[in-house]
Amino acid sequence: MYSLASLHSFGFPSSAKAIVFIKAVSELQVQLSHLDNSPFYILGEGSNTVFLEDYLGTVVSPAFMGIELSNTDTHYMLEVGASENWHQFVLWCMEHQIYGFENLALIPGTVGAAPIQNIGAYGIEVERFVHRVKYFDLEEKTHHSIASSDCEFAYRDSVFKNKLANKAMITSVIFAIPKNWRGVTHYGELQHMEKATALDIFKKVVEVRRCKLPDPATIGNAGSFFKNPVINMRQFTQLQQVWPSIPSYLISTESVKIPAAWLIEQLGFKGKKIGGVACHPKHALVLTNDGSGTGKQLLQLARAIKLAVRREFSIELENEVRLIGKNGPIIL
Ligand code: FAD
Ligand code: EPU
Repeated sequence: MYSLASLHSFGFPSSAKAIVFIKAVSELQVQLSHLDNSPFYILGEGSNTVFLEDYLGTVVSPAFMGIELSNTDTHYMLEVGASENWHQFVLWCMEHQIYGFENLALIPGTVGAAPIQNIGAYGIEVERFVHRVKYFDLEEKTHHSIASSDCEFAYRDSVFKNKLANKAMITSVIFAIPKNWRGVTHYGELQHMEKATALDIFKKVVEVRRCKLPDPATIGNAGSFFKNPVINMRQFTQLQQVWPSIPSYLISTESVKIPAAWLIEQLGFKGKKIGGVACHPKHALVLTNDGSGTGKQLLQLARAIKLAVRREFSIELENEVRLIGKNGPIIL
């Protein structure tokens, strides 16, 4: 058994039956032939994955590195290895005066995982810059490249979580970044920064994130545990009558997104603990492990939150993190 404790940001002391390290794209065919038909899980940096208990399958850990830059008249084109660290890549862009990713600074994880849930923060989602995604088809054993327009990007969603789940191992992402940079400053703490440079935005995002979100190096967590639910306008108007201060972001004329953190806080979960697992006292959407927590405690707390939100608000919370049990993904 291989310990996964340091390979996922929640830090539960789980293990995997086996782990396969793939050092280069050229090794894929040979290394993956060992997998046969046994269950496997592709792991980036484990910042959106919680191994709740010992996993009876094989963890596949790729190391596809490299950043290649080319230019068109209007865009910087960057092909980036899937295993490059996301924040280091954002820093690399800042150093090369390629601006656009500053709102997405300090998001943990790899470049390859970024398109999978279409990472987003402070008014930007990564789909804005994805040009193509290269992947290895694990069933056909062939290399493919898919255009951004076919990635079915949505809020924390893409084709890689649906049709291509367990089928595509992402090897690199090709980004197209417009040369005529315009800052995005409409979100929350970035408002009133209209004249800001990319570096100003970068610094502000880093500052806000450091203040609001617990650092996984200090306390185990996986960022937002649940997605922010999207509800229809009729349900929202009904909820507003009972909860006049309910916050919302307009998605369309028919739907709004509600901050799950607000729903969870209203129900008194903020700061609540079950054993070593807690609902973070500074941010209700983040569940944490103080180092002594267990997968069972996490499931108990997450299920209690989900049930309470359903009862009080008639809203179904969906987890954003991947919960992995002994046989694979678990649904709350
Ligand atoms: P992992 O957890 O290793 O994997 C996630 C999924 O991608 C799994 O299903 C895995 O099988 C799959 N996968 C990974 N690599 C590959 C590959 N090469 N090919 C195919 N499948 C692969 N997310 C946001 O969107 N916005 C935020 O602001 C944000 N803030 C966060 C803050 C904190 C403190 C933490 C801990 C997490 C945060 N997250 C945020 C979530 C997380 O950072 C992202 O989901 C990130 O993209 C996960 O990358 P990873 O490499 O760690 O993925
Ligand atoms: N709020 C509370 N209580 C709290 C925290 C927040 O009521 O304890 C309410 C406030 O009304 C606040 C609102 O929630 O204005 C939104 O909070 P925040 O700006 O912190 O954002 P979020 O909706 O909790 C989302 C993403 C984050 C991303 C931030 C910034 C999801 C699920 N989460 O969080 O992404 O960094 O916006 O854009 O969409 C992640 O995906 O892991 C993640 C951290």
